[in-house]
Amino acid sequence: MNLLVTGGAGFIGSNFVNMVLKEHTDVKVTVLDALTYCGNLDNFSQDVWKNKNFSFCHGNILDKELVFNLMKNQDEVVHFAAFTHIDRSIDLADPFIDTDFKGTHVLLEAIRQYPVRRFVHISTSEVYGSAQKVPMDESHPLDPQSPYAAAKTGADRLVYSYFLTYKLPVVIIRPFNAYGPNQYPEKLIPFFVTSAISGKNLLIYGDGKNTRDWTHVFDSIRGIWKVLQAPDIEGEIINLGSGEEVDVVSIAKVVLNTLKNGNGELNMEFIGDRPGHVKRLIASQDKAKKLLDWSPEINFEKGLEQTISWYMSNNEWWGKIIDKPEFKDFEKLWYNKLKENIKH
Ligand SMILES: NC(=O)c1ccc[n+]([C@@H]2O[C@H](COP(=O)([O-])OP(=O)(O)OC[C@H]3O[C@@H](n4cnc5c(N)ncnc54)[C@H](O)[C@@H]3O)[C@@H](O)[C@H]2O)c1
Repeated sequence: MNLLVTGGAGFIGSNFVNMVLKEHTDVKVTVLDALTYCGNLDNFSQDVWKNKNFSFCHGNILDKELVFNLMKNQDEVVHFAAFTHIDRSIDLADPFIDTDFKGTHVLLEAIRQYPVRRFVHISTSEVYGSAQKVPMDESHPLDPQSPYAAAKTGADRLVYSYFLTYKLPVVIIRPFNAYGPNQYPEKLIPFFVTSAISGKNLLIYGDGKNTRDWTHVFDSIRGIWKVLQAPDIEGEIINLGSGEEVDVVSIAKVVLNTLKNGNGELNMEFIGDRPGHVKRLIASQDKAKKLLDWSPEINFEKGLEQTISWYMSNNEWWGKIIDKPEFKDFEKLWYNKLKENIKH
């Protein structure tokens, strides 16, 4: 089987590629990734680089000629590529509209011309906005609250329209918050962990009582693999979430308790809230259980402990990232804006 993975050098994509190549010797994986600031070749394991079933294409999903050429030889596609950081989308929405929405359109046109057996679109729980009823099932109203979420909602609906209009074999997955190894350190859990290891306060939006449904990335990728295998699910929309709701302050406390050894100075620092901040997300898992026989195996307490350990043992991986201007400059600009309560 020839599998195209877009955005495979990012957090979830690289965990997915590492797992597929390790566990499925009959799958040839091509990663198409533009290596934006959060795409990272270090995310692939050494075994992946040696694996003859792996090829890497450095390119952009907006490059129509390249995408059409690659699509000629694919049986299945998992589409992760996106700009993903909500804060950055508030600062500048353009790359989110371009990659997340228009880039998805390029891929859909490519599979119209060069059909595949299945196209798995990785959407997001952010399309729902804050919970209007809990748990949130796939019929929950769509109410995106940030430019990132709106661009992803546009893509999610565009993919669905190609199912209805052209009968393309798409499946739409809406993961809730994922965490684990290889996550770029601007995202909440690695941001807290790397801040604490570096002796910095943990910066918390608003009152820190916002909750999210956290899923360990190893569970998320197991679910995505099942989506490729499950029969007769074309046109389905499926949540991947743990059903475990945890607020930000509780996560900060665990991180501080684990890492403050020898540094009693560490603390939480409450700063202005993020505009459009989603208050609450919690997944219904019923459909994933029914259609995929999937539910998470790693509970949040254990998963968070393992993730903290991973960042403690992989200083080199994240140390290189936080030294780069793409990370440092944005962090400084964004948190200064929030601290000054400038709302744009
Ligand atoms: N991380 C989460 O908690 C989460 C939750 C729900 C949904 N998602 C979705 O899952 C997908 C993967 O998320 P992630 O956290 O791994 O993201 P990430 O930001 O870590 O990685 C995104 C990858 O896409 C690549 N990319 C960006 N623009 C590109 C372009 N134009 N062409 C080719 N490659 C491009 C980047 O280089 C990077 O490797 C995204 O679609 C995201 O919306 C993530």
